[in-house]
Amino acid sequence: MVKTIGGTEVPEVVNQLINPYSDFLLHDMGEDLADHRSDFLANGFEWRTPPLWGIGLLNIVNGHTFLLHDGRARDVEEAILWHGGEAEFAKGRFKNLTKEERKKLIKFVESL
Ligand code: HEM
Repeated sequence: MVKTIGGTEVPEVVNQLINPYSDFLLHDMGEDLADHRSDFLANGFEWRTPPLWGIGLLNIVNGHTFLLHDGRARDVEEAILWHGGEAEFAKGRFKNLTKEERKKLIKFVESL
């Protein structure tokens, strides 16, 4: 059976598995990332998790590697270190890795 996307039949995308590396949900990311302004369902502390898929191509596609909702992080490592709130624990685990392990994690994220 051919599924429809936006009313158009696109057989090429049927049954394709993608790994977006996001839950696409809103998360309270803590005070440092908060803008204190609500936006539809998101309160002033919440941001939507963007897909990390393709993040390694940012420089090629955009000519820069600025990340997060306001582009304040210059690279993946800075983006992780801005995580707070619900993601504070994950940031702590990142900070507790050895330098070599952190490099490996960043290399992995940039390979997505
Ligand atoms: C090892 C674990 C994690 C890694 C490597 C990671 C990596 C990243 C990166 C690189 C970004 C920037 C993406 C972009 O701007 O396009 C990002 C943003 C974000 N992450 Fe994570 N993350 C991790 C864990 C988490 C957890 C546990 C949560 C939530 C509970 C979370 C929620 C978010 C949200 C909401 C954003 C967007 C924040 C904003 O735009 O200000 N992340 N993450």
